[in-house]
Amino acid sequence: MAEIVAGIACSHVPAIGVAMDRGMTGTAYWDPLFRGYAPAREWLAKLAPDVAIVVYNDHANAFSLEVIPTFLIGVADTFPIADEGFGPRPVPVVRGHSRLAWHLAESLILDEFDMTIANHMPVDHGLTVPLSVTCGQPAAWPFQVIPLCVNVVQYPPPTGARCYKLGQAIKRAVAAYEEDLRVVVYGTGGMSHQLQGERAGLINRQFDTAFLDGLTQDPLALTRITHTEYIREAGSEGIEMVMWHIMRGALNERATEVYRHYHVPASNTAAALMILDNRSAA
Ligand code: DHB
Ligand code: FE
Repeated sequence: MAEIVAGIACSHVPAIGVAMDRGMTGTAYWDPLFRGYAPAREWLAKLAPDVAIVVYNDHANAFSLEVIPTFLIGVADTFPIADEGFGPRPVPVVRGHSRLAWHLAESLILDEFDMTIANHMPVDHGLTVPLSVTCGQPAAWPFQVIPLCVNVVQYPPPTGARCYKLGQAIKRAVAAYEEDLRVVVYGTGGMSHQLQGERAGLINRQFDTAFLDGLTQDPLALTRITHTEYIREAGSEGIEMVMWHIMRGALNERATEVYRHYHVPASNTAAALMILDNRSAA
């Protein structure tokens, strides 16, 4: 039987990936951020999962604003690397897990979550940066990846409550998969940040800390945060945090926090990395 062994929440700031790609992680600006990543990498390497379901948002790289899927699952064997801004990163191609991905697609759709299915899709910093943050710079990624995209770039994004319920459906789907696979679920994006307009550069440490605390202690309360509150308290791009609810919904209620790192600034963003251990937490 497949089992979800951990949940990981991780910001996906593109400049973090570029700092790694260009060998800048030891500079005065980046060192405090990257030093906080080391223990998490060790923990994940020891855990050695087989597959990661990575919940992230595409930033108009795979999909232009002509087609905007609310929830999408990638079922391909491989996913090429793409990006805007700094350009495609020099990281290994992302290997999919087609059989589990199709099982998830079938299970979620029959469970009344109307997923879009992607047979071919490039993946951008939303997915590759969290892999780099948690795995370093290997010649090949240490596990297979199922990309799960969420629309948070064009109003209206899904609600936090809906995202949490999708996570619960993922939990049911993984539990019903017959092969012995150890699965981790990533929720990416956040924390507080706003990239444009009068409030560009907004950071809200108090909101972020309460969100991190609530993720372990009372995730259902967090699902009631409205879109307006995210934007007011965490900036326009803070809405990316709804994706963390998918990760949390896929875990057991009593999953335990085993690691937290929060650092400001990383580019324009409050960067966080949190690991929740889901083993024996039923
Ligand atoms: C930044 C953060 C993001 O989440 C993103 O998608 C792009 C840029 C930033 O902080 O620069
Ligand atoms: Fe983003």
